[in-house]
Amino acid sequence: MDHDEALTAIASAPDARALQDLRVRLLGKKGAITEQLRGLAALDPEARRTVGRELHERKSALEAAIEARKGALERAALEARLAAERVDLTLPGPRVPAGGHHLLTQVTHRLLDVFRSLGYDVAVGPELEDDHHNFEALNFPPEHPARDAQDTFWTTDGRLLRTHTSPMQVRYMRERTPPLKVVVPGRVFRNEAVDATHEAQFHQLEALVVGERVTMADLRGAITEMATALLGTGTRTRLQPSYFPFVEPGAEFAIWWTHPKTGREEWLELGGCGMVHPNVFRAVGYENVTGFAFGFGIERLAMVRTGVTDIRDLYRGDVRVLEQFRGVA
Ligand code: PHE
Repeated sequence: MDHDEALTAIASAPDARALQDLRVRLLGKKGAITEQLRGLAALDPEARRTVGRELHERKSALEAAIEARKGALERAALEARLAAERVDLTLPGPRVPAGGHHLLTQVTHRLLDVFRSLGYDVAVGPELEDDHHNFEALNFPPEHPARDAQDTFWTTDGRLLRTHTSPMQVRYMRERTPPLKVVVPGRVFRNEAVDATHEAQFHQLEALVVGERVTMADLRGAITEMATALLGTGTRTRLQPSYFPFVEPGAEFAIWWTHPKTGREEWLELGGCGMVHPNVFRAVGYENVTGFAFGFGIERLAMVRTGVTDIRDLYRGDVRVLEQFRGVA
């Protein structure tokens, strides 16, 4: 292989291996150039100089060509790798399915936000209650007919699934001293024939305010504040006389609103309310205070706000139904 052939072979060496083989064949210990350099010793000084210079020039040229080819091969390898690893950042990424809060959770959070902003504490209580907290201390004596409206599920040891969140009035007052403001969200139970508007379990929000001169006007104001926070300024509220053993006077309250589906303006009956009965204060050992309480069903509020007409849809756990209520409350 003459010098030009060697240069051509180097320039077209297909890979690092082939290039290394060429380096050994030309410049290695037994390589062609090395052999020729060794042969210089046999030449006379004059020839040694000219041939020697030429050999060294060729050697440098070959070394440079090998380095150049090596660099070219490395660049090509890097480019091939980059091409293979190329990521198209403009492609849409994989979609992470977004979870969300259940409609009832959203509505509950919304309500708690409203009451927290009004300075209320938030408390929760047991779903498995005893007769004392669910009825007795709330002024339902053992044979009181008002118990009939709140039939529930009893355990064999005489406890029950709470029929309302009102027992937390008793528990909370016993734990604290007045004045106090608290709301209690939670699951409640009734022995109901289940249909589109009745479930054996549902949720309520209870509010209780106790202090030295708390009046019915404060009750009215609290309900109006809640309605305003939910529906906007100017929202009207209505109280109509009603009976609950643990309040006196007792009332049902409603808010005037535009039904989001029918567009009709109407009273939305929400729940019960009243001034805390003296017997309840007696049961918790409070003196010289007055207070009000109100409570209402969260399902009903959630249903009328979204147009859900069958309460059972809220409990079936069907994602196709539930995902329609992302961020509605
Ligand atoms: N606990 C009552 C019910 O479930 C509602 C209510 C709460 C009434 C507070 C008056 C005061 O029907």
